[in-house]
Amino acid sequence: MPASPKILTTLDQARIWRAEARTRGEKVVMVPTMGALHDGHLELVRTARAEGGRVIVSIFVNPTQFGPNEDFDAYPRTLAEDVQKLQGDGCCDAVFAPAPTEMYPFGTNRTWVSVDRLGDHLCGAARPGHFKGVTTVVARLFTILTPDVAVFGLKDAQQFFILKRMSQEMGFATRLVGVPTVREVDGLAMSSRNRYLNPSERAAAPVLYQSLQAAQRSILKNGERDGHQIIAQIEGLLAAEPTCRRDYVSVVDTQEMQPLVSLESGSTVLIALAAYFGPARLIDNVIVDVP
Ligand code: PAF
Repeated sequence: MPASPKILTTLDQARIWRAEARTRGEKVVMVPTMGALHDGHLELVRTARAEGGRVIVSIFVNPTQFGPNEDFDAYPRTLAEDVQKLQGDGCCDAVFAPAPTEMYPFGTNRTWVSVDRLGDHLCGAARPGHFKGVTTVVARLFTILTPDVAVFGLKDAQQFFILKRMSQEMGFATRLVGVPTVREVDGLAMSSRNRYLNPSERAAAPVLYQSLQAAQRSILKNGERDGHQIIAQIEGLLAAEPTCRRDYVSVVDTQEMQPLVSLESGSTVLIALAAYFGPARLIDNVIVDVP
């Protein structure tokens, strides 16, 4: 029988679990998720495992990071399946799956953590209030569990850079680890939202990564340094795919996440995009070291 993670649903249970690990002198490594786990999440858990210590996965579909017209109600909630996936291979020691009332005891939240400027573009511009919800819930999770390490996927690269800044500026003693995006064989980034795609949308969706790879080649092989040209190249490839509706394409620096007109040699840049296929809004990115 594969080992089963301990299920914690209240703040008190989570705090006791944390205190017990501390008493034993064990490091705590956390993987925050919204559930609907796929292989990308299991890769985060494997990375967490490799850090050593106790691994805890949080599963909470966080209402405050969804806009009024977004998919909060439709977002898949698959706790029983998720826990099964976390046994055996993807094994963690505990799952923290709180009810909304545990995370937001007053219903309407009045205390927020937000990071200025880094959320002004990309998903921050396309989804107003989204990152304020993310930073608030992650700050709360960090406060409850005081993890030594927290592991996040780099598919949400802007989220990762914002959380890193938030954690440093708030003085959390948590080291953030970013894990490269896990992809299907045709290059589509794994996402809980891929399940919304119908067969023709699914067939078309790899254009996202193909267009990012083309842009990366232009920078690395052809010496392209013009931010607008890079965006135009990607937009052209997306426009050629009839089922794809572009949301944004952007090239930004990885510190302040501001749009770049020209790419400097020796810098690291993030090329990020979001696009709709039917109702599914998918994101992807590449992080490029400019030669
Ligand atoms: O990346 C996610 O799944 C969520 O944004 C996170 C970090 C778990 C916060 O709700």
